Amino acid sequence: MQTVTSSPEATEALAAELARRLGPGDVVAVSGELGAGKTTFVRGAVRALGVAGPVSSPTFTIGHRYDAPVPVAHLDLYRLAGLDPEEWGDLEPYFDGTIAFVEWPEHGGEWLPAARAVVTLEHVDESHRNVRIACDLGL
Ligand SMILES: Nc1ncnc2c1ncn2[C@@H]1O[C@H](COP(=O)(O)OP(=O)(O)OP(=O)(O)O)[C@@H](O)[C@H]1O
Ligand SMILES: [Mg+2]
Repeated sequence: MQTVTSSPEATEALAAELARRLGPGDVVAVSGELGAGKTTFVRGAVRALGVAGPVSSPTFTIGHRYDAPVPVAHLDLYRLAGLDPEEWGDLEPYFDGTIAFVEWPEHGGEWLPAARAVVTLEHVDESHRNVRIACDLGL
């Protein structure tokens, strides 16, 4: 599907729609330029999955893992130049039994598990974002 959202809240609501269709082991790749709304999208999805506290991009670590009915992981691979087997070994637990959201999935190269959904965000103007979601989940 493809749509244009007119606010961060609308992007979060769309993400919540996707989140309701996900289950353990699902990986969501979230792509888009700086400030496109990747973290905003992930925030909406993570909240919909039952995480109550603040949701921000991992800055000093690669990932966050949240307790929820199905545990949720949020990774941001922006600072990675690529993965070697040892680094992948450090990341792999984030995907174990979780619903995992990955910003900058392109930086993970071939290592990431296949995505259940691929989300792409683009600036339209200050408050509008073009959002595409490719998945087989009926969205
Ligand atoms: N329709 C919209 N959808 C999402 N975010 C929007 C929208 N309109 C404005 N914004 C604003 O755009 C910014 C998006 O920031 P966000 O951190 O989500 O982007 P990002 O893609 O994760 O950036 P980065 O590459 O730095 O991680 C926020 O300040 C948000 O409030
Ligand atoms: Mg971000």
